[in-house]
Amino acid sequence: MPSPTRSHGRLSIRESHTPRDLMAEPPRQKDAWTARVITLFPEAFPGVLGHSLTGKALAEGLWSLETLQLRDFATGKHRNVDDTPAGGGAGMVLRADVVARALDAARRGTTQNWPVIYLSPRGTPFDQAMAQRLAQTDGVTLLCGRFEGVDQRVLDARDVIEVSIGDYVLSGGEIAAQALIDATVRLIPRVLGNAESTVEESFSTGLLEHPQYTRPTEWEGHVIPEVLLSGHHGKIAAWRKSRSEKLTQERRPDLWRAYLETDGDPVEGQERSDAHTIAGKGEQKD
Ligand code: ADE
Repeated sequence: MPSPTRSHGRLSIRESHTPRDLMAEPPRQKDAWTARVITLFPEAFPGVLGHSLTGKALAEGLWSLETLQLRDFATGKHRNVDDTPAGGGAGMVLRADVVARALDAARRGTTQNWPVIYLSPRGTPFDQAMAQRLAQTDGVTLLCGRFEGVDQRVLDARDVIEVSIGDYVLSGGEIAAQALIDATVRLIPRVLGNAESTVEESFSTGLLEHPQYTRPTEWEGHVIPEVLLSGHHGKIAAWRKSRSEKLTQERRPDLWRAYLETDGDPVEGQERSDAHTIAGKGEQKD
C-alpha cells in the first residue's frame, strides 16, 4: 500500500555566525499536528504553506504535512480514478473503491481525535471556530476532489465530514485544503511568535479587526489617527474597539448580530454600542 510522502517546508537562509547544516533532516517534534492530504496533485503541496510562518513552522517540525497520490490507489491498466455519473450528466465522479483505499491507507497511525474532511462547496462553512477546533486535534486527513465530486457511498461509509471554504466553486479541493491548513496551523502553540496576535485578530473576538497604520506618520497628505500616537493605552484600546464594531456593523451584519447576542441582551448591546461607537452615525473623526 503506498505510504504518504512528507513535506518539510523550506528553510530560509539567513546570515549567521554559526554555520548550519541546511541539508540536515528537519527536526520532527513528536506528535506534531499533521495534515494528511489525498490529492491527484501532491506537487501542489506545500505550495504557499512552505513559506512565511507556516513554512518556518513546518521546517521546524511544529506541524507535519503528508500527501498521498490518489492515483496510486487505482487499479487496472489505465489507473482510472473516476467514472461517469450514474443517471447521466456532465463531468466525472471519483470512484468509491479508489477513494476508500486511499482513505484506509491514510487512517494508518491516526487517533480517535483525527477528523477526515472532504473539501467541497456543499460542506459546512469553514470558519475561525472550526480552525480552533481542528488545531486541538492530533491531525486531519483532507480529501481533495476534482471533477463533479466523489461517490456519496464512500463519504457515508467512512464518516467523512464535508467542509466548504466559501460560496463559490473552485476547480478542486487543493486550494481549499491549503486555506484550511493555514488557518489551523497558525493557531498551534509556538507557530506564531506573538501569541497575542491571534487573540485580537478578526473573528477571534467575534468582530472584524480595526484598521492598522505604520510609519510614515504622514503619507500623501494622509495622517495616522492622532489617538494612536498619543501613547495612551486605554484610549487606544477604546478607539480600536469602536472601529472594530463600526466595521463589523457596516460590513458583516451577520457577525454583528451574533456579537450582540453573545454580548448580552441584543437591544441593550445595540444601545451600549451606539452610545460609544460611531457605527451608523457617520461622525467619526480620526
Ligand atoms: N472544492 C471546490 N470548491 C470548493 C469550496 N468552495 N470549498 C471547499 N472545497 C471546494
